[in-house]
Amino acid sequence: MKRLLPAIFISAILTGSAFASGEELYSRHCASCHHPERYGLNAPPLIPEYFGIKKDKELASIVANGLDATQMPGFKGTLSENEIKEIVAFIRTPAKMPTWGREEMLSTWELSMLEDDREAPYDLENFFMVVEGGTGKVHFMDGAGFDVLGSVKAGAVHGGPKFSPSLKDAYVVSRDGWITKYDIVNLREVGRLRAGISARNLAISSDGKRLAVATLLPEGLLIMDAFTMKPVKIFNEVGAVSAVYALKGSQRFVAALKDSPEVILVDEKTLETKRIATGQPMTDFFIEPQERYIIGTSRDGSEITVVDLKEGKAVKSMKSGVRMPHLASAAVWSQDGEVYAAFPHIGEPLVSVLKLYHWELVAQIKMKGSGFFARTHEYIPHIWVDTNTDTIQLIDKKTFKVVGEVTPQPGKKAMHIEFTKEGSFALVSIWEEDGAVVIYDSRSLKPVKTLPFKKPVGKYNATNKKF
Ligand code: HEC
Repeated sequence: MKRLLPAIFISAILTGSAFASGEELYSRHCASCHHPERYGLNAPPLIPEYFGIKKDKELASIVANGLDATQMPGFKGTLSENEIKEIVAFIRTPAKMPTWGREEMLSTWELSMLEDDREAPYDLENFFMVVEGGTGKVHFMDGAGFDVLGSVKAGAVHGGPKFSPSLKDAYVVSRDGWITKYDIVNLREVGRLRAGISARNLAISSDGKRLAVATLLPEGLLIMDAFTMKPVKIFNEVGAVSAVYALKGSQRFVAALKDSPEVILVDEKTLETKRIATGQPMTDFFIEPQERYIIGTSRDGSEITVVDLKEGKAVKSMKSGVRMPHLASAAVWSQDGEVYAAFPHIGEPLVSVLKLYHWELVAQIKMKGSGFFARTHEYIPHIWVDTNTDTIQLIDKKTFKVVGEVTPQPGKKAMHIEFTKEGSFALVSIWEEDGAVVIYDSRSLKPVKTLPFKKPVGKYNATNKKF
């Protein structure tokens, strides 16, 4: 009589690669960026709480096609349609919710003292931090000779650093929830706290004394003391915050909610809150220079809503007709007494121009590709826009026409633009593993220096990043 195969052997055959479960596929293909427990590492958490109203179809399409201009790869070639379905079903199952309150935060707390009389031997106002995606390092660079002064290991940094009003300190948030404080005079890390398992961004109060951190896991808004790096207050009941910014004029933080059509204003000192209805969730927004209006959209939407913070209500809604305006990266300038904002669309190769305070879309400019960042400076005549190609295109501030371009390294993706304090030089990233920051004279458009970096996702000038 033939012996039966042991059950364990059979199940090993069935779970071979052809029959791998969503969970196994997840560990193999996703865990390295999204965390083994799905808590998020250098990528957002993949848990039902985080997706909000996103449908399975949308998630499957993200997994298949990846996300433009981010590190999220597409898996169309690697995984079958069925395997993608299995993974999506798995990331829909509830994750173990971490307990992350004051006690857990404090168990991660580190701080060394700062001297009071620190004096920098370089111009702090023209100081840069360069964030490398490839290595998780942050480099300190002076903006006069473009010399790298020092480097620190920072992890999966998300977005730009925020500088204190004195410019002597900078704060960085990583996707896995660490808030790190740097002494910009002595170029070293001085403190850290893990605000959550995953975090989105941070803002610094007008007096530099408090930080507000948008955390994703657990969801909420954390207010920290910037000097002691300790938690002051945790707002968990607000849910997921898509971004928080500081309103310097009125000494408040403004936090937008990911899944709810409102923003929350938090007084920097008293921490009293006020809610304002916004018509749609503001997952992407910018604040105009007077800080009275916020201009936002929901993540996949095309409709742009203007909210008047003084009146406490939405005052205008505009159909842009084009998918995904990237408002957080809008370039704002004034021209002949009017104020304009230009922003790229992530969904289409277009830049829209909005006339502020009239709330009219006055131009839509065709670009080489669908870019991510638009930048300008008050002393230059152009808006520099990346196009997700090797070329940065330049739009004239008066005519809204593309009037020039720069291609720093043909065939290599050129992304993210930052200017020096005076706007005389533009810094462009080559977003490749063997990448670079290429520095241009912003008037003659001639390259003046190339510094090698490993995927320099962003570089941030202290003066431009105070707000
Ligand atoms: C190399 C790193 C990397 C790998 C590997 C990776 N991702 Fe991602 N993923 C990212 C990043 C980064 C983002 C965020 C992009 C952004 O900024 O919006 C992201 C975003 C996502 C999102 C969108 C989340 C949201 O709601 O905004 C989903 C869904 C997702 N990933 C699923 C997966 C799945 C499933 C796998 C495995 C099959 C996977 N990812 C593998 C880096 C990665």
